[in-house]
Amino acid sequence: MIDADTRAAVLLGYPVRHSFSPAMYNAAFQARRLNCVYLAVSVPPARLAAALEALPALDLLGANVTVPYKERVVSFLDETTPDSRLIGAVNTIVHRDGRLVGHNTDGSGFLRAVREAGRDPRGEAAVILGAGGAARAVAVTLALHGVKELVIFNRTVERGAGLAALIRKQGVAAAAYGWDELAAAGARARSAFARACLIVQTTSLGMHPRTAEAPPVPPEWISANHLVYDLVYNPAETAFLQAARLAGARTANGLGMLLYQGVVAFELWTGQEAPVETMRAALRACLEDN
Ligand code: ATR
Repeated sequence: MIDADTRAAVLLGYPVRHSFSPAMYNAAFQARRLNCVYLAVSVPPARLAAALEALPALDLLGANVTVPYKERVVSFLDETTPDSRLIGAVNTIVHRDGRLVGHNTDGSGFLRAVREAGRDPRGEAAVILGAGGAARAVAVTLALHGVKELVIFNRTVERGAGLAALIRKQGVAAAAYGWDELAAAGARARSAFARACLIVQTTSLGMHPRTAEAPPVPPEWISANHLVYDLVYNPAETAFLQAARLAGARTANGLGMLLYQGVVAFELWTGQEAPVETMRAALRACLEDN
């Protein structure tokens, strides 16, 4: 029941209408019998500073941050974690005693999802398709957790090269190629896939409603040695993931990353272990209703 002691956490974005987060966190708060509530708030750009000032003013637990504010909120925070600084984006804010601390749970959520899918990337090589914000969280997290080598493919090769340079600064071997290298089935690209145990698809290709689209990876480059992780979760199996499954790879979609970024945020806000299965069921129900 909501009463005078209820504490709130909020999602700050613009827009936030289709977010699954309220269903996921409110189910978790109920399962743990916490007197907390989660609300999604659409904040126009001119109101972002005021919205962040409201976190301590209203004594909120904290916030999640989504598009288009993950980078912009950083300048309003008292502190940020080292991994969120490297990623250059914050998706979770923890409020404690008037101070706002920024975290990035997308990266840690991704890692937990990959481990749940049966792979530990430590000491292994990985391929990343895409070089946007999500790819950056994935690449930095893999580099900070002992991946041996990263090869990035992106439509805009300069963006991939920028991400590869950041990864090399962390002491991890990294290279970047354009999409054309995939489409032309180049030897360097083929050998990158052959060395990798993990292939991560981070672009929006294949996402509902354009479900026929897929990155131009030759299916014969994918084998039973790979875990192919597609950050897209709607549809549950993209055309790319289906091709990977048919090629014998282990596959997983982005629902796990969505779930575990929320699990980590819940644990940061409440200090309690998150009810993972309750949260997963809430997300699945949202997807079915969608
Ligand atoms: P996100 O935060 O979801 O990663 P983003 O930062 O806008 O979003 O990045 C989108 C990624 O998807 C980029 O790697 C983008 O490639 P470019 O850097 O060349 O733009 C990739 N992407 C989006 N649409 C694409 C398409 N139709 N074909 C190939 N890549 C695409």
